[in-house]
Formats: sequence, structure tokens, C-alpha cells
Amino acid sequence: MLKKMYFFLLVFGVVYAHDDVCQNDFQEHIVYWDKQAHNLEWFVPWHTTVTWQAPDAQWFLGGKINASYNCLDRHIKEGLSEKPALICRSEYGKDEIYTYGKLYEEVCKFALGLKKIGVKKGEFVALYMPMVAEAVVALLACARIGAPHMVIFGGIGSDGIYDRLKESKARYIITVDGTKRRGRVLTHKATIDKALSVGNNCVEKVIIVNKLGLSLSLNESRDIWYRDLLIHDAYACDPEWMDAEDLLFMLYTSGSTGKPKGILHSTGGYLVGVYTTFAMAFDIKSDDIFWSTSDIGWITGHSYAVYAPLLYGITTVLYDGAPDYPDKDCFWKLIEDYKITLFYTAPTAIRMFIKWGNEHIEKHDISSLRLLGSVGETINPEVWKWYDTVIGGGRCPIIDTWFQTETGCFVIAPIPGVTTLKPGSATRPLPGYDVAILDEQGNEVDKGFLAIKGPFPSMLRGIFGDYDRYKKTYWSKWDGRYYYTGDEAIRDANGYIWINGRLDDVLKISGHRIGCAEVENVVVEHPAVAEAVAVGIDDAIKGTELVVFVVLKEHTYTKDIENIIKYKVSSGIGVYARPLHVIVVDQFPKNHSGKIMRRLLRDLIAGKPLGDLTTLENPYVLDIIKECYDRVNVRGIETIDFPLFI
Ligand code: PRX
Repeated sequence: MLKKMYFFLLVFGVVYAHDDVCQNDFQEHIVYWDKQAHNLEWFVPWHTTVTWQAPDAQWFLGGKINASYNCLDRHIKEGLSEKPALICRSEYGKDEIYTYGKLYEEVCKFALGLKKIGVKKGEFVALYMPMVAEAVVALLACARIGAPHMVIFGGIGSDGIYDRLKESKARYIITVDGTKRRGRVLTHKATIDKALSVGNNCVEKVIIVNKLGLSLSLNESRDIWYRDLLIHDAYACDPEWMDAEDLLFMLYTSGSTGKPKGILHSTGGYLVGVYTTFAMAFDIKSDDIFWSTSDIGWITGHSYAVYAPLLYGITTVLYDGAPDYPDKDCFWKLIEDYKITLFYTAPTAIRMFIKWGNEHIEKHDISSLRLLGSVGETINPEVWKWYDTVIGGGRCPIIDTWFQTETGCFVIAPIPGVTTLKPGSATRPLPGYDVAILDEQGNEVDKGFLAIKGPFPSMLRGIFGDYDRYKKTYWSKWDGRYYYTGDEAIRDANGYIWINGRLDDVLKISGHRIGCAEVENVVVEHPAVAEAVAVGIDDAIKGTELVVFVVLKEHTYTKDIENIIKYKVSSGIGVYARPLHVIVVDQFPKNHSGKIMRRLLRDLIAGKPLGDLTTLENPYVLDIIKECYDRVNVRGIETIDFPLFI
């Protein structure tokens, strides 16, 4: 073994300490990623490409790099100061354009301000912001001074903010006074105040960007205006030389347990992964104008609305508003106005556009588009074809990208001009990944668990504060040899991969990831609730809708309990998790040992065959539950909320 290690160290600059993964494939991938890493600018080159002792990977050891430097300074040096970096449109203000020069200056000024108030390298800075230029400034300023950012999605309520601030012990949070959706004011700062009013957090400073000019009640010792923090000195703020493995950010996502997990991403590996996959899957040209509709609060927003386009020196578009305001053509108008070339969105949004009708699109010239992307859930072939014909005019490749918060960047996606597309399939793994479909025992099968063999640069480095959960969730199913994705997939005869969806109790609602256990946890906190079960049902637009069944404690039924529980889920998790129905029942179907048979609840409301009922202790409840569901499930007026993009 020792001999083998030295061999790798000498030849590839790799230390590899796991016997079981096929060495040849792995070597090839390492050589590939090593080569890709040279596309970024490092202050100090790495001496070791990877060390791997499952579940711990370290990439580009010895290398020193800075994300903000690679997104800004590098392009300035190449004379791109005047090139637009950000095009920002909102439903309430004038468009703003930040050139690379302006973005660089603003980032430096803000980074100096953060330092002045005491932000230290290595400590989390929280953000609770909509898709505005200052959010990008804040990310890059944190990256510049080496403070990992932790973005809390703007749809998350005060309880969710409280939990994240408490766990991360963040001392600083950056927010806005508010933003607007369809003319309605959303008050970010007030939500932060509510979260902080509970106490039990470490927040010392709240930095507020004044977007709407709302009159706020400020806490003199704690609250600071963003504009007052900018340091206007002419000198720039030197970027920190970060170790490749230093954290760039933490981002919470849902899993199969009741608690969201803080996914940790390193600097070097993440940047290499994001840069490489962006260039490969979107065939980037230097004059591209790229628009990802994803919110900055999700991984797609981090990786492909901000980091990838800026690393590449192209222009990225931020849109802060609803897709139907002031009119249902506002997206197509934006594409026409700025001659956007690459458009990247989620199937849930495309289904909504289809529903609204082609007339909104036909009003605009969107012929500047040359490539279309899809992410977050499987795009069904009919939707794919509509996207291709109506938006792409039949000339734009559809790039269906599969990845996760944990992988940081694309793993499966077509390469334009190389991969023959098949509507509904994300096609094949990109170079650098060894993707497998496995059964429980780790044998390769045509239909089974989607898995990734061995480590890859942009993979998560852990779950904040819970090493065991990291190891158990992702690397224990096949003894550290494969990364467990949680998805089921099929590989067809041509080697194409078709994603069937999650195998755990994680739902995708309008592309947002929500854990059933997380919802149940919040619901049972209500004093009237004895037990709760959350399940998903199919929905034509959102993909999945959430239905929550509750059994109440005796004599606790109150009128409106259903709405109270819906509200509790919205504020505890986020508006995107608001259940379609809350249904009060007397009992749940249980097996002989008293375990709730959630599968039956799911199949019952979906109208699917219930299969084997021999282990069911109380079969008589099924009809009663179905009756309760049918009574509630009468959709009168259309109540579908517009998706908040993933
Ligand atoms: O189930 C897969 C689905 O989204 C999950 C990851 O969710 P999240 O971490 O929120 O990241 C979403 C944006 C990358 C996956 O486990 N998923 C993601 N992309 C696709 C997909 N399902 C099918 N096709 C995709 N292209």
C-alpha cells in the first residue's frame, strides 16, 4: 500500500489511501481535474492534487487562491473594467449595470468595511437578501477577506433564520430593508428583527442595504446602513490568500431527518468544479450574456448565477421580481432588452410559462438566445419539446443539468455539439466523474441508486457540526467507495441517465428541496398536534405539492387549525413549503409494531393500488382518511403560487 501511495505521489502529485475504487479511472479523473485547475489563477500552486481517505477528501493541497480575485481582479488585469459584469433588473426600480470595474471597487469598499467592523477570516457572515447587486457584492467581499458566507434564502421565515444563526454563531448578517413581489412589500429587515428578538444568537451587527427607502426602526448599537460601511479610500483591499481547502461558504439544505444541514464547500475544489462544468456544459463564449433565474439562496444561484459567470468574465443577469409582474411577458422582455444568449431555469417555471400561453413570448424578439438550460427536477419530454420549440426556436440545445447542493456543480449534463440530446434525460456524466447506478449491495444495475465513485473537487466537505451525519448520509452505504446521492436513476442501452427522483423522503416542490421529516418536526411543535405525516402528491406545475396529515391531541380541535398549521410551516420552513392541504384525521394507518405506514397515505391520496396490507393493524382507517382527503381536495379557484426559483 505504502509503495502504491508513493507511486501516485510522484507521478500525479496525489495521495490516495483507499484500495477499493478502480485506480485507473480514478487516476484519469485526477489528471483531468489537475489540468482544469490551471484555468484559474493561484497565488501559490498546489503540490498535491488530492488526498482521499473516505469520507475525507482534500483537493489542491498547498494551493493558495481567492474566489473574489478570480472573479474580479483577474479580468481587470486583462482590461475588462468596462465590461458589464452584472445586469440587474427589479420590479420596483431602474435597471442597474455594474461593470467589472464598478463591481471590483464596490467589493473592495465593502470588504474594507467588513474588516473595519471586525469580521475575521474564517468566520461565517450571514446574508438574507433578494437578487440584487449588493448580494453579489456581499458574497465577493466575504470571499475576498476569507469569511465564509452563509446565505439564507429570502423565502425562509424568522424561525428558520433563528435556527441557522444560532447554529452557525454568525456575528454579522447582511440584509435589505425590503423588496417587492407583484407590488407587495416584503420586509426582510423586519423578519431579521423578529428572528433576533428570540435571543440566543451571536449577532452583533446587522448591515442593511436601503433598496426601497422603507422607514425602519433601527437598533443604534447593532444596525448599520450598508452605504455607511463602504470605505471610500482609493486603495484596494488585498485578497486573502486562502488555502484551497478553506471554506468558501455554507449553504443549508433539506435531508431526510428533521433538521436542515449546513453543507460546507471549500474554496479551491469548488471554484475548479464550477468553472470547468460551466464552460463545458454551456459552451461559454466571451460575449455571452447569461441569465440564471435561480435565487442566490440556493446552490444554482451561488454556482451559476454568481461564481461561474464571473469566474469566466461574462455578464450575468439578476432579476428581483415575480415572473408575471407587471405582466406575464416580463421575462421575454428582459431577454429582448439585453439580448441574453443563455437562459437557465427550472422545469417548474417552464410548465408555468406553458400554462400562461405562447402569446406572451411572441410579443418579443428572443432570437438572441443560443442555448437553454434546465435544472432542479426532471424535465418531462413534452415540456422539453415546448422549451425547445417555443423558447429556443428549434435552434438552441437544451442542457439538462443534474447536480445537488452537495455536489456544488454539474455532474451529469450534455456537452453542446457533442452529446446527442434525448428529451427528458440529463444524458451522461461530464468528464471527471465516475457515475454509477447501484443496488443495495453496490452492484451495477440498470435501475437503482444514483451514485458517484470516489471524490470530486467540488463535493461537499462536510455537514456543519455533524461529521457523523456527513459520513453516514453520503459515504456509508457502500463502505466509502461511492457517494450516495439520494436519487433513483435508470441507465438506458446507450448509457444515458434518466433521473426518477428522490428515494428518500425529500420532496421537490417548485424545484425547492423540502424534507418530509422537517415539515413534520415543525407541525408537531404545535401544542394541539399529537402526530403528523407529510407526503407529496403530483402537481402539474409545481411537480409536487405538500399534504400534511395530523392527529390532534384529545379535545384540542379548534376552528381554523388547518390554516394555523399551514402558517406554522410557512414561517418555520419557508413560504415555498406551505402545504396545499392540512388534513385532520383520527388515526394513522399503523403496522403491528405501531409504526406509521406513510407509504399507504401517499398511495391512498394518489389513487394508486395499496398493495400488500397484511401488516396493517387498522385497515378500517383507510376509507375514512380517503374521505377526509376528498372533502378537502376540492380545488375551487386556482390557488397555485408562482414558484420562487430554485
Ligand atoms: O433529485 C435531484 C434534483 O434535485 C436534487 C438536488 O436538489 P438541490 O440540492 O436543491 O439542488 C437543486 C439544484 C441543483 C437532486 O438530488 N435534481 C437536480 N437537478 C436535476 C434533478 N432531477 C432531475 N434532473 C435534473 N436535472
